[in-house]
Amino acid sequence: MATQQPATRPANPRFSSGPCAKPPTFDVTKLADAALGRSHRAAVGKAKLKDAIEGTRDVLGIPADYRIGIVPASDTGAVEMALWSLLGARTVEMLAWESFGAGWITDVVKQLKIDADVKTAEYGQIVDLATVDTKNNDVVFTWNGTTSGVRVPNADWIADDRDGLTICDATSAAFAMDLPWDKLDVTTFSWQKVLGGEAAHGVIVLSPAAVARLESYTPAWPLPKIFRLTKGGKLIEGIFTGATINTPSMLAVEDYLFALDWARSEGGLKGLIARADANAKAVFDFCDANDWIANLAEDDTTRSNTSVCLKFTDDRIQDGAAFAKAVAKRLEAENIALDIGAYRDAPAGLRIWCGGTVETADLEAMLPWLTWAFEAEIAAQA
Ligand SMILES: Cc1ncc(COP(=O)(O)O)c(C=O)c1O
Repeated sequence: MATQQPATRPANPRFSSGPCAKPPTFDVTKLADAALGRSHRAAVGKAKLKDAIEGTRDVLGIPADYRIGIVPASDTGAVEMALWSLLGARTVEMLAWESFGAGWITDVVKQLKIDADVKTAEYGQIVDLATVDTKNNDVVFTWNGTTSGVRVPNADWIADDRDGLTICDATSAAFAMDLPWDKLDVTTFSWQKVLGGEAAHGVIVLSPAAVARLESYTPAWPLPKIFRLTKGGKLIEGIFTGATINTPSMLAVEDYLFALDWARSEGGLKGLIARADANAKAVFDFCDANDWIANLAEDDTTRSNTSVCLKFTDDRIQDGAAFAKAVAKRLEAENIALDIGAYRDAPAGLRIWCGGTVETADLEAMLPWLTWAFEAEIAAQA
């Protein structure tokens, strides 16, 4: 028997985990002031890049003595630049609980050939953070595992008096979770995630300790120009004031400046966290109310409030992967939810983005449709 479709539709069906929904007030005419068609090194371009850097500092509460740089190749570029520039000086611990963290392990172990201490957990779980030696070792980890929906519960496991560096991929955490800057030496993210910006550039945030490492240590391997943060043993300060390594997209910069303004209008970081929390709660409550679906994150303290990953738990499901795909396809075909299938390397299921650019009302309108699609697919299977 066909189940009835819900009466209400989400106004915006965009629940992708990256690129994420644009801010609700976005339209392309808001980018009309972009510094296009002329040098990014002209005063107007440099001023916009500097605004992007200082706006990031302001909204995220980054300390004045931390450097913030806009770098090539989105979050991946920022992470790779950190790994290649900083590692090799001490023992390295690599932590991963989903595919992006696993990717950084591959790079460090197979490309840089560092004999790292690798700690991994299955999707839905997290490594035992109490076993990580942040006092002595360099530690690379992902604050929020976008493809498993598991985040670190806090930063209590990171030593205040550490000699090693913490290198944190925070791309699906920045602007949605509290990042304790005193515990993070290198933090990276891209604009395409929580603020719904464009993916061209990455942001790298360096603590004074990270800068000291850069200025005192030269890796054994060569570094391509787009990874180089130092010249003659000194930090290239220009990168951190708006003189980018190579040519940036000023359209993407304008879009980011718009997103930062929107973030401020929502109450800044606090407002963005509250929006993500409210969104995630709508999905958590839905899981609590339905015994056929559950959060992939096993421990509630590690549940993401951005990339909420879900698994189907109904015994009647015959082929889990095909079922999840079919549910996502039905929702996409109805223009109710776009791009909510689980990541290709993750367990079968759904991933619903709950970052601040998503409206809670849209999630609340979408979730009854998830029930509809689930029931329709159970019936289709039979
Ligand atoms: C945790 C994490 N790291 C890195 C990336 C790669 O980001 P980008 O494609 O912006 O380089 C993503 C993208 O989804 C991610 O979620």
